[in-house]
Amino acid sequence: MVETFRAMVIDTVDGKPAAGFREVSLKDLPDNDVLVEIAYSTLNYKDGLAITGKGRIARRTPLIAGIDISGTVVESRSAEWKPGDKVIVNGWGLSETEPGAYGRYQRVKAEWLIPLPDAFSLQQAMAIGTAGYTSALCVDALEKWGAIKPGEGEVLVTGAAGGVGSVAIALLSARGYKVTASTGRPETHPYLESLGATNFIDRAELQQKGGPLQKERWTGGVDSVGSTTLANALAQTARGGAIAACGLAGGADLPGTVLPHILRSVALIGVDSVMAPKEQRLSAWSRLARDLDKTKLDAITTVEPMSKLPELAQAIIDGQIRGRVVIDVTA
Ligand SMILES: NC(=O)c1ccc[n+]([C@@H]2O[C@H](COP(=O)([O-])OP(=O)(O)OC[C@H]3O[C@@H](n4cnc5c(N)ncnc54)[C@H](OP(=O)(O)O)[C@@H]3O)[C@@H](O)[C@H]2O)c1
Repeated sequence: MVETFRAMVIDTVDGKPAAGFREVSLKDLPDNDVLVEIAYSTLNYKDGLAITGKGRIARRTPLIAGIDISGTVVESRSAEWKPGDKVIVNGWGLSETEPGAYGRYQRVKAEWLIPLPDAFSLQQAMAIGTAGYTSALCVDALEKWGAIKPGEGEVLVTGAAGGVGSVAIALLSARGYKVTASTGRPETHPYLESLGATNFIDRAELQQKGGPLQKERWTGGVDSVGSTTLANALAQTARGGAIAACGLAGGADLPGTVLPHILRSVALIGVDSVMAPKEQRLSAWSRLARDLDKTKLDAITTVEPMSKLPELAQAIIDGQIRGRVVIDVTA
């Protein structure tokens, strides 16, 4: 085991977050129960915010960035985990209040870990990452609410060509739903079709302010955009339907009315992946293992070296990333 390694660290410079590579020692890691040798991490929108400084993600500095880990346990003081176990961590405050994934090693709390599902390699688990696991939480939430039933109805996915959107389309189409993809990038239509989308809606259409109750089009939806897009999605949802909202790529506001909720019993289900309880995580990962076509997953994945994080972070903030980016923390 190496004593020092390169990590992407968020600092505070002139009162603002600033990210850069730095040598970190094993002694700098927190005194948590399980030492994991990290194989891969990934690039999520939140990582983009943290690295570019566009969002104040790290609530204390210096802090290693990166919210997702896949790797192998090398030391454990917990009876639950032993050296050699293949594991995943998603969220739990990594890169916010806890040191994160962009380095060779991290010491994490035993209760944050879940076992790598047999269906996936360590690389595929990070191709899924928080974005994909959040899509599974959203689809789980819609089915558990009873808004959507496998094989029935049309489901809207916004931010379709992004990480959450891409995996949501693949998961929904595997369950037999008709999926309408909202994207601002028409050139991604063949890609989205290959994932299972059958209809398209230009994202500009959902970004225009619409009426409080519009034509009922969706039984449910997965929204990673927020703002006017989410308000319109709710106004277009059929009686008894629901939208699972997890993102704010288009804005954190919600300029709508209560009318869809009180006149059509439409539900707005909030989804937070960071502090989701373990049973929800296990349910989401078993859905991914059951329903996510690995050929589709591999087709939406690119693997990039950690050294490229600064430019990749800017690209995800600029809406230029398609699908999922796995980060090789050894390169
Ligand atoms: N609640 C949670 O636990 C949780 C977990 C994961 C992610 N998230 C949030 O979910 C969102 C998406 O994450 P991601 O990893 O999928 O990011 P991503 O890969 O960057 O995808 C976001 C997509 O949103 C669309 N978009 C970007 N800017 C937009 C704008 N100004 N107006 C409308 N649409 C826009 C784009 O889709 P098109 O190019 O197809 O239009 C883009 O590909 C982020 O806000 C992220 O923070 C939340």
